Amino acid sequence: MDICKKDSFKTIIFTIIFNIMVKYSSKIIITGGLGYIGSHTVVELQSKGFEIVIVDNLSNSSIEVLDGLKIITGKNVIFENIDLKKSDLVTDLFKRHSDLTGVIHFAASKAVGESVKNPLDYYENNICSLINVLKGLEELNKPISFIFSSSCTVYGQAEILPITEKESIKKAESPYGNTKQICEEIISDLVNSSKNLKAISLRYFNPIGAHESTEIGELPLGIPQNLIPFITQTGAGIRDELTVFGNDYPTNDGTCIRDYIHVVDLAKAHVAALFSIMNNTHSKSHECYNIGTGKGTSVLEAITSFEKISKTKLKYKIGSRRIGDITSAYADTSKANKQLNWKAELSLDQAMASAWKWQKKISK
Ligand code: UD1
Repeated sequence: MDICKKDSFKTIIFTIIFNIMVKYSSKIIITGGLGYIGSHTVVELQSKGFEIVIVDNLSNSSIEVLDGLKIITGKNVIFENIDLKKSDLVTDLFKRHSDLTGVIHFAASKAVGESVKNPLDYYENNICSLINVLKGLEELNKPISFIFSSSCTVYGQAEILPITEKESIKKAESPYGNTKQICEEIISDLVNSSKNLKAISLRYFNPIGAHESTEIGELPLGIPQNLIPFITQTGAGIRDELTVFGNDYPTNDGTCIRDYIHVVDLAKAHVAALFSIMNNTHSKSHECYNIGTGKGTSVLEAITSFEKISKTKLKYKIGSRRIGDITSAYADTSKANKQLNWKAELSLDQAMASAWKWQKKISK
């Protein structure tokens, strides 16, 4: 059998087993399920037949996302408005849903600058919530698959590109980044002692874009800090112009390089990760995977992609470097490709086009 045939055979077998497992299982709790990545993941899981419970305290999301999800999937989800910092509410939540088989934990604060200003809020929210969730799961005393929403920020400026999971973890640049490192360590320590918990941390590179229906997408609060929402808001006339943060980096065109991944591809990685744990295909009890496209894109290349798909000229100027920015980060995704049987499929232009379509819808 040649390699292609072998791979497609493997995929078919995986899919059959997966569908059977889902049919006879499978209630999944998604914390932060009304957020940007969480909501896209709900869609992908529902399309595979999982029963979903969304837990969200609406601190950085909107209840209208539930309507968008219903339009896309035609299915209902259970929604629980709960602050995961409150341990008694979390214990009670898991008692009410004790038939659950997995948790995907997105709920966390994620603004880097804000985390520098209010570190204690970040440690309290991101770490206490995780601990409460893990304690609640341990009390259930049954096998649980746990997926944690981590970030490539744990690597800082990597020594070797593309970045593999073997890259050393540097001292975090911000309290936000530190919470991701600490949470990964907490999960590792727990799975070593737990007989029930199996976990995967997905280290996301730069998620962008929106669902093709434009029913869900990214809703940045105030002035966007991230590049793509700033580009699309500038294109839509909400911002006057984009500032490119530095063009004197040691890269081909002098601007920073990142790995921009379509949020739908990223969402699918969570389905693959759940499947992998449920199917026992990973050897360690806590594995970490890079989730990106494997392709580096500079800020100027991202602008060119936007201009191409929107058929407009973007107003931008070159400014000084942003403190804390690293030069280059893009993923080696071979571990996820092999072990999770997952690969990003959508291009930068497709992701950018979906971000632009979403922007035009929300700025109407
Ligand atoms: C940021 C976060 C990171 C998070 C990631 C994904 C920081 C320091 N890091 O990373 O923790 O995991 O988003 O959401 O905020 N740029 C401009 N002009 C702008 C905005 C950005 O030139 O107005 C440049 C930046 O300098 C960078 C690139 O665009 O080179 C991407 O920036 P951004 O979208 O903020 O992502 P990261 O810096 O990779």
